[in-house]
Amino acid sequence: METIRLPRVMRETSIKEKRSGRTIGFVPTMGALHEGHMSLVRAAKAENDIVVASIFVNPIQFSPREDFDRYPRALSDDLEKLEDLADFVFLPEKESMYPPDFSTRVEVVGVSESMCGRFRPGHFQGVATVVLKLFNIVQPSRAYFGQKDYQQSVIIKRLARDLDLPLEVVVCPTVREADGLAMSSRNAYLNPEERKAATALYRALHAGAKAIKEGQRDTLQLSGAMRLTLSEEPLVSQVQYISAYDAETLQELETIEKKEIVLAGAVIVGTTRLIDNLLVNDLK
Ligand code: PAF
Repeated sequence: METIRLPRVMRETSIKEKRSGRTIGFVPTMGALHEGHMSLVRAAKAENDIVVASIFVNPIQFSPREDFDRYPRALSDDLEKLEDLADFVFLPEKESMYPPDFSTRVEVVGVSESMCGRFRPGHFQGVATVVLKLFNIVQPSRAYFGQKDYQQSVIIKRLARDLDLPLEVVVCPTVREADGLAMSSRNAYLNPEERKAATALYRALHAGAKAIKEGQRDTLQLSGAMRLTLSEEPLVSQVQYISAYDAETLQELETIEKKEIVLAGAVIVGTTRLIDNLLVNDLK
């Protein structure tokens, strides 16, 4: 496994690999790697000749009030985890990604506005901008994202389609702890009591999926049922949203009529913001 820091060197390396006829599977990350990330790296390895992972805590996707400074960083553990699976790890410096006069932003309108977009202004603009930069540098044949960040995956797919990017965006299933909690680097912020309470989000989404299977079609009622589960957990200090959305447009639904919907929520447990979702696509 080779470590590359300069965007120019990463790009030249990728171009050389592709000229030799090799496909590149790319896993962009912000580090603090867990099983969720590793499942993406394994999928990339199974489906491509070369695997590139990037580790870059992207400052422009955090607002000044958010956790950029305390975001978990675990570089030597991360490199150890990637050692046998990745061929290249791209570790750019902030200055090489964003020189002082950097002035471009990429915005995917519509799908960026609902759900997390309402609570994290500018976040998805920061994500779309860095992902497009990373795609241009790494030149992947396929890029891998987790379903846990469902809205992000829809935005990246739309970006790739709208801008004719010559790559496939692959979305892999959410990896969960044994009690259902979706794996996330931010779970490291939770103390033991909060860690137990954090499963409430998964339980609430499950309650929603069960209600749909039992015939509930009214989203207000459905959100009410999911909020009730969350309200039973005192350490859930805020519910930012929890509802049913069209899986493609991410518009909140009034009634559950479409086949492909996503139940999604964001809550604060202690001071930690957690998100999760379930795809419900087998309405009878
Ligand atoms: O999902 C993440 O870790 C980040 O949003 C990403 C895609 C690496 C962009 O910084």
